[in-house]
Amino acid sequence: MKNTKILVTGANGQLGSEIKALSDGMGGFAVTFIDVEDLDLTDRDAVEAFFKAGSYDYVINCAAYTAVDKAESDEDTAFKVNAAAVGLLGEVTAHYKTRIIHISTDYVFDGSANRPYTEDDEVNPVSAYGRSKLKGEELLQKNNPDSVIIRTAWLYSAFGNNFVKTMLRLGKERDELRVVFDQVGSPTHAADLAKAVVDIIQKTESGDKEFVTGIYHFSNEGVISWYDFAYHILDLAGVECKIIPVLSEEYPVPAPRPAYSVLNKEKIKDIYDIDVPYWYDSLKRMLDGLR
Ligand SMILES: NC(=O)c1ccc[n+]([C@@H]2O[C@H](COP(=O)([O-])OP(=O)(O)OC[C@H]3O[C@@H](n4cnc5c(N)ncnc54)[C@H](OP(=O)(O)O)[C@@H]3O)[C@@H](O)[C@H]2O)c1
Repeated sequence: MKNTKILVTGANGQLGSEIKALSDGMGGFAVTFIDVEDLDLTDRDAVEAFFKAGSYDYVINCAAYTAVDKAESDEDTAFKVNAAAVGLLGEVTAHYKTRIIHISTDYVFDGSANRPYTEDDEVNPVSAYGRSKLKGEELLQKNNPDSVIIRTAWLYSAFGNNFVKTMLRLGKERDELRVVFDQVGSPTHAADLAKAVVDIIQKTESGDKEFVTGIYHFSNEGVISWYDFAYHILDLAGVECKIIPVLSEEYPVPAPRPAYSVLNKEKIKDIYDIDVPYWYDSLKRMLDGLR
């Protein structure tokens, strides 16, 4: 069997770390993990030299500028990492005939829908982060059409910082927490997304599936508000803290969030036969793993 070479960027982030955790089971694959200290993806000369020095069959791009609120006052950096660098990755991967799987976000939508968003629905980001990620999608599709873009949402993991870990910490420190209940979506355990990405490559390489390019949606199954999510995180972890539902207007943050950002996952299920676990089961698995 061919030794498929994979490069994972953003390897120290939530998703990159989950792919690393999976990589022992990736027989037949030679996986290289890098992050910004190995290669700054905004540095054109360094990126070109890196790809000249090594050859890869796939790049999984987990690198991103993910500070959603900070991006409002630092849109320039968000665009450098989430747009220009993704365009550059598209250029170099196309040059070396390398396929790329890139991760994008539900924040490309404005949240005005009342049924799950499909890949064909109109995009209209309402934040600087969302605009930068959308530009990244556009540049990648233009520069390397041999690409798969997976939009995900509400990502959390045992690795890195995220809503689940923040709720656990604050829940232990405080008697009550106020959490918005008018923003609705689906959480995503990064381990499930990591498995979906690896599955796509494994199925393609085994000849089970074609590499069907384009945009896909992946989150966990089910629909909840941040309030419900917080409630169940603390309940499952056995942390005693009252969760109070509040409206977004009572909890102002710099970046506006889509009120409804549920993603329709039919396409990735149909084309790649990807398993999509229910959010509660995945949350339970993650919390069990933390213990
Ligand atoms: N987190 C979410 O809730 C969420 C929701 C929807 C979609 N997504 C998308 O899912 C993907 C994975 O997210 P994540 O939560 O795993 O991200 P993350 O934990 O923030 O990891 C991103 C990684 O990229 C690195 N990075 C930043 N700038 C870089 C550069 N110039 N060159 C190379 N690497 C760089 C970061 O390093 P530093 O930490 O040193 O900056 C970090 O290690 C991203 O595309 C993100 O936009 C995330």
